[in-house]
Amino acid sequence: MKFDSNNAFAKELDLNDPLKYYREKFYIPKQKNGSEVIYLAGNSLGLQPKTVREYVEQELIDWEKFGVEGHLQAKNPWLPYHEFLTEQTARIVGAKSEEVVNMNSLTVNLHLMFVSFYKPTTARHKILIESNAFPSDHYAVQSQIKFHSFKAQTTLIEANPRKDETVLKTEDILELIEKEGDSIALIWFPGVNYYTGQAFDIERITKAGHEKGCIVGFDLAHATGNLLLNLHDWDVDFAVWCNYKYMNGGPGAVGGAYVHEKYLDDKTLQKFLGWWGHDKATRFLMEHTYISIPTVESWQLSNPPILQLAALKASLDIFDTAGMEALREKSEQLTGYLEFLISENKNDNVDIITPPEANERGCQLSLRIKRDGKVLHKTLNESGVVCDWREPDVIRVAPVPLYNTFEDVWRFFEILFN
Ligand SMILES: Cc1ncc(COP(=O)(O)O)c(C=O)c1O
Repeated sequence: MKFDSNNAFAKELDLNDPLKYYREKFYIPKQKNGSEVIYLAGNSLGLQPKTVREYVEQELIDWEKFGVEGHLQAKNPWLPYHEFLTEQTARIVGAKSEEVVNMNSLTVNLHLMFVSFYKPTTARHKILIESNAFPSDHYAVQSQIKFHSFKAQTTLIEANPRKDETVLKTEDILELIEKEGDSIALIWFPGVNYYTGQAFDIERITKAGHEKGCIVGFDLAHATGNLLLNLHDWDVDFAVWCNYKYMNGGPGAVGGAYVHEKYLDDKTLQKFLGWWGHDKATRFLMEHTYISIPTVESWQLSNPPILQLAALKASLDIFDTAGMEALREKSEQLTGYLEFLISENKNDNVDIITPPEANERGCQLSLRIKRDGKVLHKTLNESGVVCDWREPDVIRVAPVPLYNTFEDVWRFFEILFN
């Protein structure tokens, strides 16, 4: 699409946007003066769907009415409640329904998956991680290595960008896998880097890892509900994500997990067990011999938080009618438009560090601010823009196709450079 930098052009794009009515389904926070903020932080915390209250309220009513009987008698019985989210979740990440479950939170799920999929031996004990992966991933991986009595210094391989570069080259990642693969037990990569907004080639990284006999898993915190994913067909071994960013499941929302179907019947996998992973038909016989659910639900430990699942269900219903393909198409245009406006301006204080190729990024552009970044961020904030600052020098901006407009992007650009 050919972009133009005047406001009328942004208005025109909004007018012709087939997804324009979705914005009305969300609460847009307000400034002190009563006007809506320019919310560009959906990569951090997605906005609240207006239907969330009704979904949560339904469960509060049923709790009030039925007490414990709500597990079976609630309008949406709590016993199987998480199953009501499964099909939609599977569509979002491109998986079969038996391969996905919403449970716990991201870092907890990461550890549960590592119990099953990080099986270090003396000859093959290494973990390949991106050097700039999210801190929680680094901490979790370091602790897993220690738990298995190895040392991070010799077991952790970090993929780094080339000298004086900020993002990784796919060819360098693949070369590293080719070179070190025989000693790598697990490749643990993000779908999208939280800091730079770089989207990784999940399919090629997985394929390269498998060719060297490695297990390949992904942290999809910034990819779920953002990129078009095809986890099953890409043969990804396992993945985890959070649902509070692009998925709009609310602060601290229940996380998500995926395990490829080829492992679902694998009795040799180590797993930490809990009663919610036990065969549903016999769970309440309260016997002590564990029988596994034959799906990824067998990784569940506890009965899930229904109020949180209700909030997430409200958002999943919206995603389902909008469709990931239409969302992605608009997302590419929104982000492309933001990039166009910033690049056109040629302001020497702002560098876009996110890759320019559409297939190497999602909604987010990360702007490296060379001088007085925090001051600029504060000014943006005081002018009604919500976006986040990441140390040492980056402002992250994420126009989200469900509720952001082209005019949001245009107004942000006006404030950024005025
Ligand atoms: C890429 C990534 N990984 C992990 C986490 C940690 O998530 P949680 O607090 O849900 O465990 C985050 C949180 O923002 C994240 O962005």
